[in-house]
Amino acid sequence: MESDKLRKVRAFEAEHLPEVPAEVLPAYHVTGGVGWINDPNGFSVYRGEYHLFFQYHPYSKQWGPMHWGHVKTKDFVRWERLPAAMAPDAEFDRDGCFSGSALELSDGRHLLMYTGVRKERDPDGTEREFQTQCIALGDGVDYKKYGGNPVIDASLLPEGGSARDFRDPKIWRENGRFYAVAGNRCPDGSGAVLLFESEDALRWAYLGALAASGNRHGRMWECPDFFSLDGKDVLIVSPQEMIAEGLEFIDGNVTLCLVGTFDRGESRLVREREQTIDYGLDFYAPQTLLTPDGRRVMIAWMQYWDSVDWNPEELPFFGQMTFPRELRVREGRLIQTPVRELEGYRGACAVHRDVRVSEAVELPGVSGRCLDMTVTVRPAAGEEMYRLFRMETAMGGDHVTEIVYDPETSTVRVDRRRSGAPDHVLGVRAFEVRDRGGKLELRLLMDRYSLELFVNGGEQAASFALYTPAEAEGIRFSAEGTVLVDVEKYDLEF
Ligand code: FRU
Repeated sequence: MESDKLRKVRAFEAEHLPEVPAEVLPAYHVTGGVGWINDPNGFSVYRGEYHLFFQYHPYSKQWGPMHWGHVKTKDFVRWERLPAAMAPDAEFDRDGCFSGSALELSDGRHLLMYTGVRKERDPDGTEREFQTQCIALGDGVDYKKYGGNPVIDASLLPEGGSARDFRDPKIWRENGRFYAVAGNRCPDGSGAVLLFESEDALRWAYLGALAASGNRHGRMWECPDFFSLDGKDVLIVSPQEMIAEGLEFIDGNVTLCLVGTFDRGESRLVREREQTIDYGLDFYAPQTLLTPDGRRVMIAWMQYWDSVDWNPEELPFFGQMTFPRELRVREGRLIQTPVRELEGYRGACAVHRDVRVSEAVELPGVSGRCLDMTVTVRPAAGEEMYRLFRMETAMGGDHVTEIVYDPETSTVRVDRRRSGAPDHVLGVRAFEVRDRGGKLELRLLMDRYSLELFVNGGEQAASFALYTPAEAEGIRFSAEGTVLVDVEKYDLEF
């Protein structure tokens, strides 16, 4: 039975979504269609299709009482919109259905595990917020909240754990049992990831703290995910209030990947390596699923919390997801490449090999804003090492977004200050890449409102929202010194 709030949101969608012209939406990145979205939620395989839910406030382009929006896909590229799955309509989640995850049960039901938010007022007027973990069960369209909610509340927290900052459960099944990780705030004010176990996904026990920030990597840790990959155990988390560290981490809400080995006895991750997940300016709250053919695929909100007030007025939606990425671990580092299904949508192709670049050049057939392009750069044999390689993209009128590589420091620098972003929006991000003696491979995925970069076969990824006018579709190459460049560019056609 639909509650009034769920009926209202579904009626709102039925009325407003058909009015949104396809041309104003990204061609292959998920948005809410109308209103606001943030974190991806419930990214899971259900009845042979990939489902994705998201934090959703359809009624305005601002964050508000959180619902769960819903889409699904067969190939991560073309998505079908489904009616909103949940509204904050129960006693235990009346102030918001916060982030969470999903899995398919062996009895055929789709289980959602999420954070229910409830605020209460003390007699003296002080407001207190409680975050608890809740379950809903459904058939891929309609979901019913479990009568015994919440299934995890503050009574299961370790001593000093916060009942206020306790959220974003990620559930998985292993050897016939269920496990979940959730973010929590420690007595020192920083974040931890707590691990829970259950036989039936309804009755849970606390196992231990998998990892904690100790105020070293930001404060509260949001949206954890934990999985094994290529012989390692990987914890991903989204820390708030990170303090910038060299070129690795920027200030604010960022993402962190801890690679190590899970100590089962202690329920603890023994860390070996740590890194930023995405070196761009817009990437948060990533979540993964395992495909039936064994690929670990990640999607994230392609947005930085500090610039949520930047969004062109004429657009009906706010917030978009990254394109899903296949993950691997190599030499303790996360490797990310766009899911291979995208290659099926490659259309017109322009190929140029061994182009000598120094003065700015544009290459025939190389332009556009909805494309998949790989650019390979190397020093010209027998000549001095070049000093800089530059690519200008989304170029036209006063607009340009630059990608610059300095082989001496082996840094890539992306500058979107002239992409149409207002001054207060963070415009420049530089990051170090592996020194390959002046060789560099850049794969660019561009869509109407974004640029995602994959460096050196996915050793690093960097995502940027770009609200540059669609006509700015020029691409230009230049160098200080001389480089040899190969370009393979495909238009994406859907
Ligand atoms: C992360 C986050 C989550 C929370 C959700 C609320 O972006 O703050 O921790 O569940 O957003 O919308």
